[in-house]
Amino acid sequence: MEKKFKRTLVTTALPYANGPVHIGHLAGVYVPADIYTRYLRLKGEEVILIGGSDEHGVPITLKAKAEGISPQDVVDRYHAIIKKSFEEFGISFDIYSRTSSEIHAKTASEFFRKLYDKGVFIEKTSEQYYDEEAKQFLADRYITGTCPHCKNERAYGDQCEACGTSLNATDLINPKSAISGSVPVLRETKHWYLPLDKYEDFLRKWILEDHKEWKPNVYGQCKSWLDMGLQPRAVSRDLDWGVPVPVEGAEGKVLYVWFDAPIGYISNTKELLPDSWERWWKDPETKLVHFIGKDNIVFHCIVFPTMLKAEGSFILPENVPANEFLNLEGDKISTSRNWAVWLHEYLVDFPGKQDVLRYVLTANAPETKDNDFTWRDFQARNNNELVAVLGNFVNRAMVLTHKYFEGKVPACGELSEYDRNTLAEFAGVKSELENYLENYRFRDALKEAMNLARIGNKYLADTEPWKLAKTDMSRVATILNLALQISANLAIAFEPFLPFSAKKLRDMLNMGSVEWNLLGRIDILPEGQLLKQPVLLFEKIEDAQVEAQVQKLLDTKKANELKNHQASPVRENIDFEDFLKLDIRVGKVLECQKVPKADKLLQFKIDDGLGGRTIVSGIAKHYNPEDLVGKQVCFVANLAPRKLKGIESQGMILSAEDADGKLVVIEPEQNVKPGSEVK
Ligand code: MF3
Ligand code: ZN
Repeated sequence: MEKKFKRTLVTTALPYANGPVHIGHLAGVYVPADIYTRYLRLKGEEVILIGGSDEHGVPITLKAKAEGISPQDVVDRYHAIIKKSFEEFGISFDIYSRTSSEIHAKTASEFFRKLYDKGVFIEKTSEQYYDEEAKQFLADRYITGTCPHCKNERAYGDQCEACGTSLNATDLINPKSAISGSVPVLRETKHWYLPLDKYEDFLRKWILEDHKEWKPNVYGQCKSWLDMGLQPRAVSRDLDWGVPVPVEGAEGKVLYVWFDAPIGYISNTKELLPDSWERWWKDPETKLVHFIGKDNIVFHCIVFPTMLKAEGSFILPENVPANEFLNLEGDKISTSRNWAVWLHEYLVDFPGKQDVLRYVLTANAPETKDNDFTWRDFQARNNNELVAVLGNFVNRAMVLTHKYFEGKVPACGELSEYDRNTLAEFAGVKSELENYLENYRFRDALKEAMNLARIGNKYLADTEPWKLAKTDMSRVATILNLALQISANLAIAFEPFLPFSAKKLRDMLNMGSVEWNLLGRIDILPEGQLLKQPVLLFEKIEDAQVEAQVQKLLDTKKANELKNHQASPVRENIDFEDFLKLDIRVGKVLECQKVPKADKLLQFKIDDGLGGRTIVSGIAKHYNPEDLVGKQVCFVANLAPRKLKGIESQGMILSAEDADGKLVVIEPEQNVKPGSEVK
């Protein structure tokens, strides 16, 4: 049976504040959560959207170390960038705060203490690897060594990526600290464990029986975790960055980041509503919904609910609509490989086009399986859907109204049969949209909204009011009235998806505020209402713009390949006779200068012991010409002459290409007479 709720608390996964956010974040979590929240607000429901940055965890401390700054400096920097990106993309948080705040430390600490006092935790001492040089315990991920199964020498303490086996750090042969490179030693340490196994029965019933409606990807992952059997999980760590464990004798220990981060949802609600936050977290009439990516499922469906249940006074999530992953041009998005479209960079290249990205990411959202973002698809959806359908329809309705009716909403006369058929086509749009939105099917919902624009577009194309203008002005009035009413419907239907464009549209139509309940009606705009001048909602994206983006990614790929540079495979064998054909000699550089209008070329005058020759070489990016004068170099003396930028090059100067693409010329180890052969 469907439960009735009074209000909805929407949370979004707290992104780690150790890098900016990219399209994968937006598509997976923030855009769907924003659509959902905007929709509920538009319906006049009581709803809040809670977000914030996740500012603890080992990677942040390592980044700080690498840059010689404090972890707080790291999170200050990225929290600001992330927060700004979300604002710019219209993610309508009621609060976007952070887990390094004081109120969070207090909330998380009290939460832990309550469980501790209730005797929920198991205390356990175990041996863990300790880095004596870095003076810290090492998380499994930060120990490398040889895999006992496949002998891969670069296995991690939690997993060997060569053979896929999951490991314990103590399984590794020749373990090494990834932080200092030293050999770690085993040391005893005490931690607190949340006994998930004791909550298995509760979890099985609560998820597998009571929440069969969860998305199949979420339900399936939970089931497989539960079927494997749950183990107690450590909720503390030996680290100096995080919320201190509030227990005597726990100096140098902090709460595990995955223990404190979800409590951040509570702290941030408290910060927003110091007096009424409990209504949102403790009243069973509140519907709690967590928007997350698939890698967070176990924490939000199993660990955090167990914490809430153990605490005893909190509600549990009603749904956890996790998305799968978004790939980029066929490859997994990766921060370390810089394989991403960063939100702050997107806005530099496509200023004002937030809605285009929101549209494409929703139309292509990884709701049920991983999906791919491509720049070609981005362009096509913009040009063929936003511009050609939605933008075109609204613009025509506006322009024609200005042309024939001085920009005032004309009177609606008697409806023709065709009009009535058109209206019938979108009669169901409101309930269908609601059904999709309430079931977290945002792609389908967007398609439905777009379908309304298609209906409008087709209506104008079929009725051709511009042809009737000479003969039947009252018919033109009716057609444009309907077209404008459909436009007003679009301003409502698209508000959750494309808030910037919906606002522009509302302003053009002079609509003031909007209500979801008007959707489907054709009397939204009163007759005689004056419209503003039309502005274009969308504009075409040219080939050159997407080609530049694709090129940027190709450059990234190339840079990555160079980073992982392996010597290139040796070419096919040649015979000794073939080698003898090559005449390589040493020459001395007499003159060297840049070739005008060629940024890669240098022109050399070489003393070759035979009266001198000119050689043009593509190393201008790597040398100042004056630095080469007087040097001895090696060159191929019998290469057929070729013209480069109008200069005849009589040979080729030899250089070696370094891993990063840098070219260095080959010099003899001691000076020799110019013209000496290289054998
Ligand atoms: N920082 C985590 C991640 O990016 C998500 C934390 S969600 C929260 O994967 F619930 F812990 F807040
Ligand atoms: Zn292995």
